[in-house]
Amino acid sequence: MLCRYWPAALFIIVMTIPAAPPPGVEQRIAALLSRMTLEEKLGQMSQSTSMRTPLSDPIREEIRKGRWGSFLNAGSPADRAEAQRIARQESRLGIPLVFGRDVIHGYKTIFPIPLGQSASWNPDLMQQAARIAGIEASSEGIRWTFAPMIDIARDPRWGRIAESLGEDPYLTSVLGAAMVRGFQTESLSSASAIAASAKHYVGYGAAEAGREYNSTWIPEVLLRNVYLPPFQAARDAGVATFMTGFNALNGVPATGNRFILRKILREEWKYDGMVVSDYTAIPEMILHGYAADDRDAARKALAAGVDMEMVSTTYFDHLKALVATGQVDVKSIDNAVRNILRLKFRLGLFDESPGPAATAGITAAALDTAKRLATESVVLLKNDGNVLPLAKSIGKVAVIGPLADSPVDQMGMWVMDGRAEDVRTPLGVLREELGDGRVLYAPGVKTSRDSSRDGFQDALQKARLADVVLLFLGEEQILSGEAHSRAFLDLPGVQEALVEEIAKSGKPIVAVILAGRPLTFHNAAAKMNAILYAWHPGTMGGPAIADLLFGDSVPSGKLTTTFPRTVGQVPIYYAHLNTGRPAPANELGIPLGNPVNPVGYTSKYLDVDFTPEYPFGFGLSYTTFEYSDLRLSASRLRKGGRLTASAEVVNRGVREADEVVQLYIHQNAASVSRPVKELKGFRRVHLKPGEKAVVAFPITAEDLAFYNERAQLVTEPGTFHVWIAPDSTRGLEGEVTFE
Ligand code: NOJ
Repeated sequence: MLCRYWPAALFIIVMTIPAAPPPGVEQRIAALLSRMTLEEKLGQMSQSTSMRTPLSDPIREEIRKGRWGSFLNAGSPADRAEAQRIARQESRLGIPLVFGRDVIHGYKTIFPIPLGQSASWNPDLMQQAARIAGIEASSEGIRWTFAPMIDIARDPRWGRIAESLGEDPYLTSVLGAAMVRGFQTESLSSASAIAASAKHYVGYGAAEAGREYNSTWIPEVLLRNVYLPPFQAARDAGVATFMTGFNALNGVPATGNRFILRKILREEWKYDGMVVSDYTAIPEMILHGYAADDRDAARKALAAGVDMEMVSTTYFDHLKALVATGQVDVKSIDNAVRNILRLKFRLGLFDESPGPAATAGITAAALDTAKRLATESVVLLKNDGNVLPLAKSIGKVAVIGPLADSPVDQMGMWVMDGRAEDVRTPLGVLREELGDGRVLYAPGVKTSRDSSRDGFQDALQKARLADVVLLFLGEEQILSGEAHSRAFLDLPGVQEALVEEIAKSGKPIVAVILAGRPLTFHNAAAKMNAILYAWHPGTMGGPAIADLLFGDSVPSGKLTTTFPRTVGQVPIYYAHLNTGRPAPANELGIPLGNPVNPVGYTSKYLDVDFTPEYPFGFGLSYTTFEYSDLRLSASRLRKGGRLTASAEVVNRGVREADEVVQLYIHQNAASVSRPVKELKGFRRVHLKPGEKAVVAFPITAEDLAFYNERAQLVTEPGTFHVWIAPDSTRGLEGEVTFE
């Protein structure tokens, strides 16, 4: 009888004893770590650029031996697949490699430069763009990007302002986190997810005088209130890695800085991701005067908490000896390796089957997103007499300028995989749409830096024959980005002279400026009837610009950096402190003319207006939006409470369009002076002609909080001004008391 029940009994036992759970990531890491030699651990901590096409025998052998944990910006997709196969199948422990690359604003489909993207104030669209970049890059074996760059940038001389999301910590936090989500998806282990990197931790954008790699001096109050928040937001969004900065921060290189890396990142924020140095930043600590030699640099970087060394080899060359002499505890090496292996497990690299994936090409959907993002990033700075949009029935257009048909420049800095042949330029699109006969093209100059006026005559002639002149000016790709700081912010070369020449035609001039930073062009602007600031708009810049010119879309971008009138005003940003002697509005418009007897001892210049050329948050439209009826749901707020600030926004024009509505606050008096205005919220709303929206923002005590002098996050009682506004200089104003 028993026998008859035996199978059922077995079945019951099988069902009731829970299957042993598969080992968790931490257990798998521990098991692996216990089998690794010190050399293999140091290999994991090393990232190299040395992979070439075709894979050389020495590199194959190094991969077999576990000499490298990661490669960056190296090899073809096939090389990467083969290198991964060797690592997985032929190395002693089968630890996979992780391939990193600078996928900064697109992989094959190139989106606007990050500074341009930020002018869209559209986190969803930016998330979508990052997702597309992730799909394209991962299909070629890239599972780690060195983006987003969330350094606050308040100096347009700094070439990397192009790679930034602008000057504001709140906006950068929101947009940076959206990019992280786009790259990484819900789960890093999904095959098309790529690990993001919050860089450059921290303060790199405050390089003195905007000169690349220069020192940064940032008091802790400023560090915590302005430079750190985007990184904390990235951490909260689950960013998988951090990259250290090249800069010395308050005298201590960011790459060896225990305060920011250990105290803030690991202890305060409890970050368990991986930290990589920037490119050769560890030995650069010797030149900074912070490390005596490579060995000292390796010890200091590890002590600060840098897990992986990019390109240089001080870890591999020296940590073994440092362990032998007892100067480095092997536990700190194990911690670093744990962080690296955790990244690889989270990416699912141990579990994926090796072999090349199917390359994802540029899709119609990707191009559509690229066009939308390019469109929303363009900022209309001027539109005298509503010269824009142009009537489609317009006769002839003269297309002039060095950037009308320059695919590489149009893509902007940091493009490793985008191809010029995929780019649609404004000239190409205008010819397609208007027909060759209606487009009179004369570049005027060959490149943005050209100093020859030989092409002026032809350009002027064409301008005279046309009904409108479209002037494509700005900066070439190579004038912004890493190591491309400028001391002057003017239109390079003879472009200003070209504007003057073209103005002789008497034809309306519409300037489209393609650039990697805010430029100063005050005098030239006076000769332009309309100005579209298009940044470096990427693959679909041409169609986006053509649609804006002819009114198939309406400009909606708003500036995320303050545009100075002259380089002498830099740094100039909207969230400054007030000073004890702010210049009053009736001192606007100065030059004073008489330096001996300046009008008023206030904070301004003798030779230029103290206000910017174009303020943060500014951007025009083809319609007008009217703001009215500011309401605060309460006039007093307590800790734990919440109120709503709202306003009506009405489209008073004849075109449907988007408006980016902004919320700013200011605390009148606090234990540390607070900025005159701080962005705390924004909404992009779409309104038909005559349509009205009530745009509402919640305000809580957290929105009013700031770091005080003792590095505590506090909300202090007092009076706050609240604005709902179209930009940082205007808006409806109310008042709230925090008790
Ligand atoms: C140096 C740059 O500062 C960093 O942003 C970049 O990701 C690395 N090089 C790798 O190319």
